[in-house]
Amino acid sequence: MRELDEVERVGVVGAGTMGNGIAQVAAAAGYDVVMRDIETEFVEKGLDAIDDSLSRFVRKEEMTEAEKADALDRIAGTTDLADLGDCDLVVEAAVEKMDIKRDIFADLDEVTDEDVVLATNTSTLSITTIAAATERPDLVVGLHFMNPVPVMKGVEVVTGEHTSDGATELAHGFSEALGKETWESDDKPGFVTNRILMPWINEGVRAFDEGVAAKEDIDRGMTLGTNVPMGPLELADHIGLDICLDASETLHEELGDRYKPAYLLRRKVDAGDLGKKTGRGFYEYE
Ligand code: CAA
Repeated sequence: MRELDEVERVGVVGAGTMGNGIAQVAAAAGYDVVMRDIETEFVEKGLDAIDDSLSRFVRKEEMTEAEKADALDRIAGTTDLADLGDCDLVVEAAVEKMDIKRDIFADLDEVTDEDVVLATNTSTLSITTIAAATERPDLVVGLHFMNPVPVMKGVEVVTGEHTSDGATELAHGFSEALGKETWESDDKPGFVTNRILMPWINEGVRAFDEGVAAKEDIDRGMTLGTNVPMGPLELADHIGLDICLDASETLHEELGDRYKPAYLLRRKVDAGDLGKKTGRGFYEYE
């Protein structure tokens, strides 16, 4: 297995919110990064988001302009998965669809060296099922970052049925090298975080839909009442209502009715109101 001290070049599949965040923190920690998405436009949007996020650290004097420029220089964008062929570690952060992830992992298995660990940022899908698309299920591990990646300190390491101790240790060590702290979960639906977070969000959506309180009061009740940074509706908008619905559907399928997605969550997604990223979710954004 390619050990952590041999990792110099990191591949990231997906240049969306999570992918560009992972690419950013890896580059800021000194790794060379290849970030791949299916369209040039998505890669460019990802690079712009990284530029904006690094600028925030510069404005707060937590990073110099030169460090920002170095981090950006370390990131190469591509639309060709074969460009990840010389990476020492790959983190996949594509859409939360099992078929797509399995196809990506089958392709990564072909293009990367056979001793390279392949990690997935999936938030609820089975690591074991993703790993089964490869010839190296022992080297497939969950590396679940939190949004926004550059700010959130935690990473969830998830072990599949065949994940080796070595790959698990590498996942912890790599996260720590990025300045993060980790916890470990077995490969059970939603792992630790989303298993507990999604019912909380759905109950917030139901409380709003059933007229328990105004949306602002639901969020104020939970932020002021339980000292969390965001209430369930604001957090759902922040994560993306489509992501919340996908995660809730997986939990519902696997764990039953107590995880059923709230009616209003599905209606908002059907209407294209996905939260902050589309300018409208439970709240409106500029
Ligand atoms: N890049 C760089 N810096 C950023 C940033 C980004 N993308 N986003 C926010 N920041 C910085 C801001 O510059 C600011 O810095 P200072 O405090 O030093 O000035 C700080 O983060 C706080 O930002 P804001 O003042 O704009 O807003 P805020 O105080 O409301 O904080 C927040 C924003 C950090 C997102 C905070 O509200 C929060 O922690 N919310 C909860 C987020 C959360 O729970 N995330 C996990 C979701 S679950 C998940 O991701 C897993 C899943 O599978 C669904």
